[in-house]
Amino acid sequence: MCGIIGYTGFRPACSILLEGLGRLEYRGYDSAGILVSQDGELVTIKAKGRLDSLRQKIGDHPPVGTSGMGHTRWATHGEPSDENSHPHGTKNLALVHNGIIENYIELKRGLIEKGYQFLSQTDTEIAAATMDLNYDGDPVSTIAKSLRQIEGSYAFVIMFRDFPDTVYAVRKDGPLLVAPGDGENFVVSDLTAAIGYTNRYFTLDEGEIAVLTRDSVRVVDLDGNPVEKTERTVGWSIEQAQKDGFEHFMLKEITEQPAALRNTIHPRIKNGLPSFSYDQIPEGFFASFDRIQIVACGTAMHAGLVGKAVIEQVARIPVEVEVASEFRYRNPILGKRTLVVVISQSGETADSLAALRLARSLGVTTLAVVNVAGSSIAREADYVIHTHAGPEISVASTKAYSVQVSALYLLAFSFGLAVKRIDEEEAAALVSKLEGAVDAVGAALDKAPELEQAAKRFSDVQSLFFLGRGLDWALANEGSLKLKEISYIHCEAYAAGELKHGTISLITEGIPVIALATQQRLMGKMVSNIKEVKARGADVLLIAKSDETVSHDVADTLVALSPIDDLFMPFPAVVLLQLIAYYTAKERGCDIDKPRNLAKSVTVE
Ligand code: F6R
Repeated sequence: MCGIIGYTGFRPACSILLEGLGRLEYRGYDSAGILVSQDGELVTIKAKGRLDSLRQKIGDHPPVGTSGMGHTRWATHGEPSDENSHPHGTKNLALVHNGIIENYIELKRGLIEKGYQFLSQTDTEIAAATMDLNYDGDPVSTIAKSLRQIEGSYAFVIMFRDFPDTVYAVRKDGPLLVAPGDGENFVVSDLTAAIGYTNRYFTLDEGEIAVLTRDSVRVVDLDGNPVEKTERTVGWSIEQAQKDGFEHFMLKEITEQPAALRNTIHPRIKNGLPSFSYDQIPEGFFASFDRIQIVACGTAMHAGLVGKAVIEQVARIPVEVEVASEFRYRNPILGKRTLVVVISQSGETADSLAALRLARSLGVTTLAVVNVAGSSIAREADYVIHTHAGPEISVASTKAYSVQVSALYLLAFSFGLAVKRIDEEEAAALVSKLEGAVDAVGAALDKAPELEQAAKRFSDVQSLFFLGRGLDWALANEGSLKLKEISYIHCEAYAAGELKHGTISLITEGIPVIALATQQRLMGKMVSNIKEVKARGADVLLIAKSDETVSHDVADTLVALSPIDDLFMPFPAVVLLQLIAYYTAKERGCDIDKPRNLAKSVTVE
């Protein structure tokens, strides 16, 4: 997820672009770059690191001109570096990009045959070269032809050397808004970058090309036919807009989960089957292991617990999950056919990194599931699956967890196929259910008002329990961590059948219990466990697979999901747990995005 801005008007473009990038920096800060049209020349300046590095590089000599574009990068293809920074230029044009070009390897091959050479490792440079190759003197037909060849998600702002004061923009999946002003026009990833100058905007749809000059905004389709757009206006403050109007980054990130899941899953599906060719994982890989060891911390470890259940069920390969800080000091027994999987959002967690290094020193194969490209864990593992949650700003992890889980499901299907526990037909059915689970996440988000209401009664409790069986137990652990982390309420997650072996003595009149019952197979047992705590006075909130699978009088409150296959219920169910944590913390007036004593990336042991 990157931030992009295009500008043409009457003000100094360099300062407009830097100001806009400052507001977009939350979208990524691996590098930043600008391009200004100066006396008909497209002058580019870019720098690795935060926007301040670019500001320093520009210093007191900004390029002079009133049209340009800018980019702040969250690295996906290619490590953060000056070369990999945007804009990427060719003989005829330059562009900035937010998204992922899925067929870039194939396009690159063709371009190399035609004599193109590349300076960066990015997919973006391939898109620029594709447009350059198609350039016919008409930017609109050049862009249209290129978009028919480019696959993936993108928001592009493009400038052509022959038309140095015109800004072109297109998008597919990635966000991009056109913000018309008076005598000046903007195109931006989000309106925060232009809000100081105009509050008018419209969204660009797939298959539309925006053409911006100082005095006009034109939108055409890929055949050059004009498209009418309806403008809207916003009354946001800049502060609110930086969170896209959300009160907290956490809520924003919870709602981003369907898009994050799609971005992570889609590149790993080929012809309806799981495929990790996108990650350069070789064919034979999945048949090479008879044991899997997952190592991670916190929420990432909880994603591992779901992964264990799914891999064992689908592929029948034994999986162990361990917190990294224990694994590394335990002198673990790892055989030649053991795969160590390290899961980490940041890719920098010290214990997870140390566990990875330990595994490598013992000569076993390592696979990292990492959200931040170019991070230490991503660099050091033998194989890497980059999740595409985009930058996660709230300290409490939400969307990163869901995408980690989705990657583990696809791994489970690939292992299942490789060891012949499932055939292609079964794998294709599982993949399609996984895609369906993304829609169920969207439906779970609609439950927010019910959870906001339910959270009111947790706001002044001292202690709370989460209960579940099987996959629900794995989820209970995550629900408990999320709630204690941001609301500071003491919580415990228990395997529902285990409670009566001691901890049930803590259940007294009015103690809140959040019970999960999304697994049809375990429903009867789960209902018995709920009755056990109810009989001792617990106030039970039940999250059930649907309101038809359970009698309404089992619990004090029932929140029912839209039913999907049991195996996929963790995707919508975790959203409810995240929302409970969020609304409870909000009710208690906690600092949700920056909870006390915590940091986003734990780089100390
Ligand atoms: C909780 C949370 C932490 C992280 C843990 C590992 O909401 O975010 O528990 O999951 O610190 O961090 P990463 O995934 O960056 O290795």
